[in-house]
Amino acid sequence: MTKNTFYTVCCLLVLTAACKKTSKEVPNKANDEKTVTYSDRFSELLNYPVDAVAFPRSADSTGQIKKVPSKDWTSGFFPGSLYMIYKLTGEKKYLDRAKEWTALVEDQKFNDRTHDMGFKIFCSFGNGYRLEKDSIYKNIIIQSAKTLATRYSDTVGATRSWDFGRDRWQFPVIVDNMMNLELLFEATNYSGDSTYYKMANQHAKTTLKNHFRPNHSIYHVVDYDTISGDVRMKVTHQGFNDESTWARGQGWGIYGYTMAYRYTKDSTFLEQAKNTADFYLNHPNLPKDGIPYWDFDAPKIPNEPRDASAGALVASALIELYQYTKDQKYLDFSDKMMKSLSSPDYVLQKTSSIPFILDHATGNWPKNDEIDGPLNYADYYFLEALVRRKNL
Ligand code: GLY
Repeated sequence: MTKNTFYTVCCLLVLTAACKKTSKEVPNKANDEKTVTYSDRFSELLNYPVDAVAFPRSADSTGQIKKVPSKDWTSGFFPGSLYMIYKLTGEKKYLDRAKEWTALVEDQKFNDRTHDMGFKIFCSFGNGYRLEKDSIYKNIIIQSAKTLATRYSDTVGATRSWDFGRDRWQFPVIVDNMMNLELLFEATNYSGDSTYYKMANQHAKTTLKNHFRPNHSIYHVVDYDTISGDVRMKVTHQGFNDESTWARGQGWGIYGYTMAYRYTKDSTFLEQAKNTADFYLNHPNLPKDGIPYWDFDAPKIPNEPRDASAGALVASALIELYQYTKDQKYLDFSDKMMKSLSSPDYVLQKTSSIPFILDHATGNWPKNDEIDGPLNYADYYFLEALVRRKNL
């Protein structure tokens, strides 16, 4: 597909969605006077001033931007989004700006206090390296994997997620941590050192064994005994309750096992990705537009906030899952979700200048933090899905 055809298709999708904007189910904040499309918003990201301690993470309903330093788990998404916009538009100014922001994440390569290394380093340096093959980027990725590897326990067979909560947990592993495996797998590809691959592979196997319920929904947190490696408890931190299914956690699982299959070709990982995706696709509480409430078991459905970040990352994962399974239902579902997310129901219609694309994402409901607004990782996975669809 040429660039022009791609944009024509995208505009048609947006127009079709705008014409069909009749469902009472969708959280519609659209301004009827002027429809803002997602590509109208690209320049807002470009023009946001580069600042080492002010990565834009989210915005509240008044347009107040939450700014974070590079150590925040979300710092890699903003440069990552700029790389994705460059891939969509071919305009070098986005690449240049992505590299400026990426440089500001480098200090995280030695931060051994968190498992979020993959989110931070791979969305920034990882995307940059794939585009330009700069050996400096490669060395930063390898150093980051080396740092992340210090959190791996042979006894547990996983990397530790959090250092906080030591009064409750000994060795907490959250399903989100599946996303950090991409950094480890690629570090082996870049360095030839199989240590990282082995850790990532074992982490995926341990998570597969302990994080899933029989119906293929996912526990958010599994805590392990540091001496025996046994499971101590299965609980939630960001979901509604311990037995509920937190929508973004389910998404991390779908994406994580699809990606783990990419590197290992282990059929049990692909099977898990399909089962986890099928739970999502067939859930009776999933709204018709494919974008979930923040938790599949949230008590006041349908009067609960959506999580566009979960929707976006699942839409992206399903494109890759389709590539391995050739099952058309995954691609069709991803297209449906992207049609929803590209519509004025989800694209930010605010005229104020904030560096985000999507609205209606939910960060941390139990803490009443970042509810039903823009989040930089919703944008990142939305843009990644556009790139993946374009490249199919
Ligand atoms: N990894 C943190 C989150 O998904 O909110």
